[in-house]
Amino acid sequence: MTENYPLPRFNFHQKYLNALSQTSQRRHLYQSHGLSFSSNDYLGLATGTEISNAAQKAIDANIPIGSGGSRLLSGNHEQHEALETEAAAFFKAQSSLYFANGYAANMAVLSTLPQKGDMIFYDDLIHASSHDGMRLARCEAQSFAHNDTQDLHAKIKIWRAKNPDNNMWILFETYYSMDGDRAPIDAISDLAHQYDAIMVIDEAHACGVYGPDGRGLAAHLDGRDNAIILRTCGKAMGCEGALLCLPNIAKDFLINRARHFIFSTAPSPLIAHSVRTALRIMQIQPQRREALMQLCDYAAKILSPLGAITHGGPIIPIIIGEAKRTMDIAAALQDAGFDIRAIRPPTVAQGSSRLRICISLNIDREDIDNLALTLKKLLSKDCYES
Ligand SMILES: Cc1ncc(COP(=O)(O)O)c(C=O)c1O
Repeated sequence: MTENYPLPRFNFHQKYLNALSQTSQRRHLYQSHGLSFSSNDYLGLATGTEISNAAQKAIDANIPIGSGGSRLLSGNHEQHEALETEAAAFFKAQSSLYFANGYAANMAVLSTLPQKGDMIFYDDLIHASSHDGMRLARCEAQSFAHNDTQDLHAKIKIWRAKNPDNNMWILFETYYSMDGDRAPIDAISDLAHQYDAIMVIDEAHACGVYGPDGRGLAAHLDGRDNAIILRTCGKAMGCEGALLCLPNIAKDFLINRARHFIFSTAPSPLIAHSVRTALRIMQIQPQRREALMQLCDYAAKILSPLGAITHGGPIIPIIIGEAKRTMDIAAALQDAGFDIRAIRPPTVAQGSSRLRICISLNIDREDIDNLALTLKKLLSKDCYES
């Protein structure tokens, strides 16, 4: 589908869209259909009845849908505060601050906390929201090679020697959203300790899936003065929003300075209530995580002979390479009833377009078997070969 819009004022935009079409990078919105192999609803909470039943009761109890204003004006609701109190206790953090989404939370942290003269070191594969936050940051930023603690060490050593008094920030994800691999968390934490750095840790895809009570892969770092941890609520928690778990002073500073927090309508109190329900489910239903892990292990066994890269979790990429071929295979999978999406540049590096397969409790072993059969046929077809 390559729509053309004959509007002279938008010539630049039309040319841009056409160029995207030519390289198979033009995006379109379409609704999910078929078996769910692309959703981050890892524990099946978004589609299940438990959170919606609790939300129904909350509506009956007059918990509002809209907050009506910024948290600093009329929008601060008891549901937000209850959620933050419960989240801080659950994650064993000093405090917690709830945002409308993880994108805003990452932007808020990076545009607000690092100051002039500081330095941000970030993993090469960090999420777009962190990149956008760094663009607004008051200090410089430098990348280190993905998961490469030697590279990180070399860079922070040089910088710290020249800047003994400024703050150094290290950004990484614990479970990478497009590759499904894990960060060397303890090695980075040791370096942060040695060189007196503050870590900004994105647990978007690990929260709910890994760690004690699903608290994530960096749960043991909660409560430390040098750790700011992001838990998004729209993935395994099946809701919406994001919880920053952070030192008290960082929360206070964000409430006073973060424009994404101050100049934005507070998230829905009803959804805050739903996130509270999700936290309780994570705590009392370990069987969901166990079932998910068993399904991930099964998927790894069945899909790795087809080229899937598996690190033992729910995100399983199959690197195809060229964008057009990846799009064609994804479209054929969709036609065959599997909701699988092609991930192309700029989300991933040029030449590494991929099918991103997500395992969740919304599918079962038979679905994985059927996917493998279809995928095998498609991958062996001449027309999809580069
Ligand atoms: C690693 C990572 N961080 C942050 C975000 C942003 O979170 P949200 O979807 O709540 O805006 C995402 C979303 O895809 C993500 O994958």
